[in-house]
Amino acid sequence: MDRPFLDLGPCGPLRGALRVPGDKSVTHRGLMLLALAEGEGRLYYPLKAGDTLSTARVLRALGAEIEEEGPHFRVRGRGLRLKEPEDVLDCGNAGTLMRLVLGILAGQEGLFAVLTGDASLRRRPMARVAEPLRAMGARIDGREGGGKAPLAVRGGPLRGIRYTLPVPSAQVKSALLLAGLFAEGETEVEEPVPTRDHTERLFRHFGLPLWVAGNRVRTAKTGPFPAKDLTVPGDFSSAAFFLVAALISPGSEVVVEGVGLNPTRTGLLQVLKAMGAEVEWRVLEGEAGEPVGYVRARHSPLKGVAVDEGLIPLMVDEVPILAAAAAWAEGETFIPGLSELRVKESDRVAAIAQNLRALGVEVEEGPDWLRIRGGGVRRGEVEPFHDHRIAMAFAVAGLPVGVRVWEPEWAEISYPGFFRDLLGLCGAS
Ligand code: S3P
Repeated sequence: MDRPFLDLGPCGPLRGALRVPGDKSVTHRGLMLLALAEGEGRLYYPLKAGDTLSTARVLRALGAEIEEEGPHFRVRGRGLRLKEPEDVLDCGNAGTLMRLVLGILAGQEGLFAVLTGDASLRRRPMARVAEPLRAMGARIDGREGGGKAPLAVRGGPLRGIRYTLPVPSAQVKSALLLAGLFAEGETEVEEPVPTRDHTERLFRHFGLPLWVAGNRVRTAKTGPFPAKDLTVPGDFSSAAFFLVAALISPGSEVVVEGVGLNPTRTGLLQVLKAMGAEVEWRVLEGEAGEPVGYVRARHSPLKGVAVDEGLIPLMVDEVPILAAAAAWAEGETFIPGLSELRVKESDRVAAIAQNLRALGVEVEEGPDWLRIRGGGVRRGEVEPFHDHRIAMAFAVAGLPVGVRVWEPEWAEISYPGFFRDLLGLCGAS
């Protein structure tokens, strides 16, 4: 069978300003909370891409009304009681959807639902959410001892628990906080290292119970709550591709506007600065409790760095594009703390190593680390491994010299129009 591919570049310099699509994490959560709210609310400028359209589809099957209004969504919630779905719920490629909605379903007393997804999602670990939700009182079963999808869930009654996250995961934290809205007593999650806090910010936006003390976050059973409109900021993870594209292409200067600058997401900026990048950003406004502003990047000679392991959860989705930057840097970059990347949409540690080699870069791969010898890349072909961020990161890595991207349509999971926007900045289209 003929596999689709896209030949890109060589192209550059990249110049101009752009806005990227809405934040994926905030869109998933906004849709879910509006589905649980009373009455009608609008989600302005959401991400409309493979993953978040899966969330809209699943929430419709659970009884929420979700209509498109131009670029926005209008959601009429069900209140706290969802409808039992008539069929299996297909989460597609979306791990955030499967894990967070499992938390909500766990709290729906007596309601039965089955969750499945594509081949990549069915391989990903679900025990990390299923186990604590069982401890709260949900019945959850699945393949491989109950830890892999398809998952069958029968909802509560739930009781609150105190839980320390064994892996740094905003998805697990969020699933437990959502379940906590339905649980008797209080539900407390302790996170040894901080992860993205969009759920906490949205709980505040909707007036839901929330207490934060140090690295512990706590919620409690809620009564009905009203819908509230919400504007989604641009996705920093999408912006990151253009920032690095500008840094590695001589003569480039790119500004991304209207982008979310939540400090639990922007660890990459600190690493790029340490690499010598000319990158600056400013928070100009706040939307739904999220700081929003611009980031500007100019072509810069980069040097390799040893990345601080503690920053990885604050840039967990940006490691592929950091690897692209490291390939163009002078000297060696060491990236530790990557065990979670083995269980993302693909095994990202392996996918990064293989694509860097395909572009002529020397790389050493450990169980949870990468060592990348920089100095530039040569023309080659890159393989997404069914993973949107791998497709986009290595398209950028090869852009200055020319690159063939196999199955470029994987980018549509989080960024429809990515290649058009990228080529638009270097004057082609
Ligand atoms: C996400 C959290 C991260 C991230 C994913 C989105 C979220 O996953 O990789 O793309 O929206 O909560 P983990 O929490 O599993 O690390």
